[in-house]
Amino acid sequence: MARSLRKIRVGVVGVGRGQAFAKGAGPNLGMELVALCDSWEERLNVLGKQLKVAAYTDYDKFLAHDMDAVILANYFHEHAPFAIKALCAGKHVMSETAACFTLAEGVALVEAVEKSGKVYMFAENYPYSACNQEMRRLYREGLVGDFQYGEGEYVHPMDSHYYDSISIGLNHWRNWFPATYYCTHALAPLMFIADAMPAKVNGFVIAYDPEDEVSFGRTARRNDAASAILVRMNTGAVAKLLQGSLRGHGVWTSIHGNKGLMENLRWGSTEMLRIRREPFDKGMGEPVERIYAPEFPEQGELAARSGHGGGDFFMNYHFANAIRSGKPPYLDVYRGVAMSIVGIQAYRSALKDSNTFEVPDFRRKAVRDKFRRDDWNPDPTRRKKGCPWPSVLGKITPSRKAVAFAKKVWKEAGYQSE
Ligand SMILES: NC(=O)c1ccc[n+]([C@@H]2O[C@H](COP(=O)([O-])OP(=O)(O)OC[C@H]3O[C@@H](n4cnc5c(N)ncnc54)[C@H](O)[C@@H]3O)[C@@H](O)[C@H]2O)c1
Repeated sequence: MARSLRKIRVGVVGVGRGQAFAKGAGPNLGMELVALCDSWEERLNVLGKQLKVAAYTDYDKFLAHDMDAVILANYFHEHAPFAIKALCAGKHVMSETAACFTLAEGVALVEAVEKSGKVYMFAENYPYSACNQEMRRLYREGLVGDFQYGEGEYVHPMDSHYYDSISIGLNHWRNWFPATYYCTHALAPLMFIADAMPAKVNGFVIAYDPEDEVSFGRTARRNDAASAILVRMNTGAVAKLLQGSLRGHGVWTSIHGNKGLMENLRWGSTEMLRIRREPFDKGMGEPVERIYAPEFPEQGELAARSGHGGGDFFMNYHFANAIRSGKPPYLDVYRGVAMSIVGIQAYRSALKDSNTFEVPDFRRKAVRDKFRRDDWNPDPTRRKKGCPWPSVLGKITPSRKAVAFAKKVWKEAGYQSE
């Protein structure tokens, strides 16, 4: 069999979100799931048996399994060290968001990828909805001209019970990550469509609300509700990102160019695309507005069956293609690190009255040295002088009643808390 057709043997870390990758890595893509890893043994064994693959609770032992690639869906704030270890063990890596949790980790990750010569892909699935792929195609054709202003929104309200069920343990990352950090779902589509990189940010946080009994009052959360981030792109365009758990669920991308507007519908049929070209810009016979449901540019049938509006399929698809071709995927380490750093720098900004912070470009080797030791982070388990609290309000202690409710939910999920 020609080398290019060889099966790609894949291992997945994390059996929560990781299930989507594990179940999608099948023969349709020339991939074969061979191993799973999770430190939560009971949950690991259930999935391991169901999928009939090797199951490891220990990451080092998992890495010694005979396989080509590792997909990381472990904790949000621990992806970079796991990725670096896998790259050093000679594996290709696809990593969930965030790519890095500090700027120092960003530098280390970029350099580990360069040194390894392996594929690194950032698993941002939101750019791959049918609307966002269509907007990229139209942008490249020049339909709306140059990117001037864009908005990206990922608003995901949850009630306490649901929040607790996916935030198991007092120090689970969802109970303390700052509201700016989960920004890649809002930002990645804009970068992908207009091929732009973030350069500077101003962050604004919508604070923790003790009066909000439904969202906060029965959780162990010590972080804020949501954030808005203004981003200056390297092209000169300006973008506004909105993310967090505000009321009003929404996933929305909008691009104003100097010749038109395109966006998915913000309400109603959100999988529909709206194109507007003003009467003075449009061609003869062209309507001012068009609204339609775009198709996927390729692999539509397989994509339609996967999660996140097809986005989950395209993660495995582009990862497999990059490994086969040896060409870095669009969502390479530089883009993954840059969009993750937007969340970190926006939090620094929010804590400094929304002053402007730069997003260093780690494609440039000379820039990296300045940030090699920058381990500023809000992780309560490694707190030290100079590091921030996870909320702009400072140290938050959830009420005993709130924690007791959360513990009940964790117990239902099989977790024995102290
Ligand atoms: N792109 C998307 O649409 C999307 C959706 C959900 C989650 N995510 C991302 O996926 C990642 C995982 O999310 P989740 O909701 O499943 O979170 P989670 O915290 O519930 O799951 C992480 C899993 O990793 C395991 N784990 C942690 N440390 C480990 C270690 N040292 N060794 C082995 N296993 C370990 C945990 O036991 C847990 O099962 C996060 O980064 C999150 O941001 C992305």
